[in-house]
Amino acid sequence: MKHFINLKDIPAADLRKIVNDAKKRKKLRKKLSTLEVDKDAPLKGKLLIQMFEKSSLRTRLSFYLAIKQLGGGTLTLRSNELHLGQGGESLEDTAKILATYGDGFMLRTDSDEKIEKFKKYSTIPIINGLSPSSHPTQVLSDVFTVEEIKNKSISKLNICWIGDSNNVLNSLIAASVKFSFKLSIGCPKNYEPKKFVLDWVKDKNKKVFICNDPVKAIKNADVVFSDKVISLNDKVNKKKKISDFKKFIINKKLMSHANKDCTFLHCLPRGSEVSEEVFLNKQSEVWLQALNRVHVQKSILLYAFGKL
Ligand code: CP
Ligand code: NVA
Repeated sequence: MKHFINLKDIPAADLRKIVNDAKKRKKLRKKLSTLEVDKDAPLKGKLLIQMFEKSSLRTRLSFYLAIKQLGGGTLTLRSNELHLGQGGESLEDTAKILATYGDGFMLRTDSDEKIEKFKKYSTIPIINGLSPSSHPTQVLSDVFTVEEIKNKSISKLNICWIGDSNNVLNSLIAASVKFSFKLSIGCPKNYEPKKFVLDWVKDKNKKVFICNDPVKAIKNADVVFSDKVISLNDKVNKKKKISDFKKFIINKKLMSHANKDCTFLHCLPRGSEVSEEVFLNKQSEVWLQALNRVHVQKSILLYAFGKL
C-alpha cells in the first residue's frame, strides 16, 4: 500500500512510472466513451471514498471518472455530515471505519495534520486531494500535460510560475526536483515560497530561481503556470494582496517576453491573475490540462492500490 500525499516524499522513479502509465492508458482508451471501463478493469470491485472539506469541481469529477474507468466505484462524503465533522467521533475511529468499508481514501482538507493522522490510523491508501501545503495530484497531472503538449521530457523545458507561493507552487517546486526541470518563480517581494520549502530544495542540492520582476522571471519560458492570488480559505487582506500582485497579472504584454511558442497553464478556478485574452488565447491549454486530471489520477490510483 502506498499513500499519495506529497510529491516530495514519493521516489522520482515512481512518479515517472505514474506519468508513463497515464500516457499509455490515455492512448488505449481513445475510442471509449466517458463511463466505459478500460479493457483490463484493474480496479474492478474497489471503492474509493472521497471527502471534501473545501469546494471542488475538477478534483471531485476527475476522481469519480478515474475510478469508474478503472472498473471501481466511488462514494463522496461531506465532512459536515459525518460524526467526525460534528465533533462526535474521533479521527482514529473514523479512519478505521473508512478502511473497513473502502479500499482508498481521497481527502481535500484545510489541515495537513489531518492527512497525517488519517495516514497514521488508516490501513488503506490516503490520497491528498489538496491541502494547505500541497496539491500533488494536480501537479503530477500538469507534468503529464506539459510533456503531451511539448512532446518532450519536461526536464528539457524552462518552466515558469507567475503568482502566489501557495500549495500548487509547493508541489511544482517538488516536481522540479523530482523531474529535474528548471523552474523560475515570479512573485512580489514578501510573497516568496516558505523557508521550509526552499530548505528542502537546497537539501536536495537543487535550485529554483526566484525573481521579483515578472518580466525577468518569464524570460525564455516554454510554459507559464499560474493560480489564483487568493486561495480557498486564504485568511488575508484580499484587497491588499490583489493590489500587491498587480504587476504580476499575466497579460499579452507579459507573455510576449516568454518564448514564442510558450504554453499557458492554470489549474483553475481562475481569478484576476490572468487576462481574458491570455486565458482564451490558443497558447492556453487549460481545458486539456483539466481533462488530463482523469488520466493521471487513474495511474495515481493504480499506484496507491498497488497495481502499478
Ligand atoms: N484544480 C482543482 O483542483 O480544481 P477543483 O478545486 O475544482 O477541484
Ligand atoms: N491554490 C488554490 C488551488 C485551487 C485548486 C487553492 O488552494 O485554493
